[in-house]
Amino acid sequence: MRGSLCINYIETPISRESLYFSDGLSRRNEVLAVELLPHKNNCWKAKEESSLDNLLSNRIKSVPKSFIREILKVTTQPDVISFAGGLPNSELFPVSQIETACCDVLKNNGPKALQYSSTEGDADLRQWISNRYKSQQGLQVNPDNILITNGSQQTFDLIGKVLLNEGDNIAIENPGYLGAIQSFALFQPKMHTVELNEDGLNLEELDQVLASKQPKLLYSVPNFQNPTGISYSQANREAVANIIKQHNTLLVQDDPYGALRFSGTPRSSFYELAPENTLLLGTFSKIVVPSFRLGWIVAPDWLIEPLTIAKQAADLHTNYFSQQVMLKYLTENSLDDHIATIIEHYARHKEAMISAIEKHFPKEVHVAPSEGGMFLWVTIPDHISSMDLFDEAIQNKVAFVPGIPFYVDKIQQNTMRLSFVTVNEEKIEEGIKRLGQCIAKMSNARYVC
Ligand SMILES: Cc1ncc(COP(=O)(O)O)c(C=O)c1O
Repeated sequence: MRGSLCINYIETPISRESLYFSDGLSRRNEVLAVELLPHKNNCWKAKEESSLDNLLSNRIKSVPKSFIREILKVTTQPDVISFAGGLPNSELFPVSQIETACCDVLKNNGPKALQYSSTEGDADLRQWISNRYKSQQGLQVNPDNILITNGSQQTFDLIGKVLLNEGDNIAIENPGYLGAIQSFALFQPKMHTVELNEDGLNLEELDQVLASKQPKLLYSVPNFQNPTGISYSQANREAVANIIKQHNTLLVQDDPYGALRFSGTPRSSFYELAPENTLLLGTFSKIVVPSFRLGWIVAPDWLIEPLTIAKQAADLHTNYFSQQVMLKYLTENSLDDHIATIIEHYARHKEAMISAIEKHFPKEVHVAPSEGGMFLWVTIPDHISSMDLFDEAIQNKVAFVPGIPFYVDKIQQNTMRLSFVTVNEEKIEEGIKRLGQCIAKMSNARYVC
C-alpha cells in the first residue's frame, strides 16, 4: 500500500480489517474510495510521495488522518458559519479565576509547582476527583485507582499500550468518536462495531460481537455521545452491564460530556453497574478548559500499575503546573456554578438550533434526541450524501461535519454532526436557514433529474 496515506483515511473508517490483513482495497472500498476522493480533494491536497516513505511503520500507515481537523481548515474562515467544530465555547472559560489561581500557585508554591512530579498525578487533585465522584454520582473511587493523564485522549493510548496486541479484537460504537478510533488504530486491532441506537447500544449485536469475537474492550460514550449526542437509557445500561459481566471484556466508559445535562435525569454509571469490568475516563476539558490537557482514568488495582508504567515511559507525568493551577481553581471557586453557566448557555443554543431546524429543514429530516452535551446528529433525506451537502454548504458559507468519517462500517451517508455551542443564536438561525436551502436545492435537483 505504498503512498497510500491519504487513501488510508478513506479506507480505514470503512473496513479496517481489509487494511490490516490484505494488501489491496476490497471491491466495496474501491468504490467508496473513488466516491469520496473528490470530496477529500476539496479539503486537503494529497501528500507528495517520497522514496523514503517505506520507512514509515505499518502502525502509522494504518491510522486515519483526522478528517475533522482537515475539515476545520476550510471552515474556520471568518465569513463561514461553522457548526463543524468540536471545541467548547471559549467565551465561557473562567479566565480571570484561572489568572488568580496561576498567580497564587507561583507566589505560594512556585519552586514545587515548576519541578518534575509523580507519574500518578498530584495526590490532592486525585482526592478531589474521588470526592467529586462521591458527591455527584455516589461512586466510591479510591484516589490510588486514579491516574492523571494528558487529557482523556491520552488514556486511549495508554489503554492500547497495556492491553492490545496487533490483531486483538476490540468493539466500538458505530458511529463512534473519531479520536478514540484513531488512537486505538495505532495498535492495529481488529475493530468490531456495535450499532448505536437512540436508546443506546444494539443489545443483540453487542451480545453477538462479545460472544463471537471476545473483544478485549468495548469503547463507549454513554452520555451525550460524540458525534450523536445520544445517551444510553437506564434500561439499556443495565442490559449492557449484564452482557458485559458475562464476558472477559472491559467496558471503557468515556465521559467528557456527562456533567453537561440540560434536561432529564442522570443515569447510572457503568462503574456502578459493572464495577469489575469498567474503566472510567474523565476530563476537565469540557467543564473547565481543554488547554491544560488534564484528564484521568479510573482503573482496577491489576491495571493501574501497568497504566502508570506506560505513562511513565510516554511522558514521565502530566504537566504539574497545570495540575496545581487546576486544583487551586477548583478549591477556590464553585465548579457547580461554572457548570451551571455552561449548561444555561449551551441549552439555549441547542433550543435555538432545534427551532431553526424545525423552521428551515424539510420535514423528513430527523434529529436524534439529546439532553445535553455539545452536538446534534441530523439525518437528512437518504438520497442526499452529506459529503455532497458539505460541498454545497461551504459554497454557501456554512459548515458542519458529515457523518461518514464517524462510521467504522455500515456507513450511513445521509448523517451529519452539528455543534451548537460556539455560534451565537442569531447566526445559528442564519446558518441553519442556509443549510436548509442547500438541502432543498439538492432534493429538488434529484427530482429534476
Ligand atoms: C468522546 C470524547 N472523548 C475524549 C475527548 C478528548 O478529550 P480531552 O480533551 O480530555 O483529551 C473528546 C474531545 O472532544 C471527546 O469528544
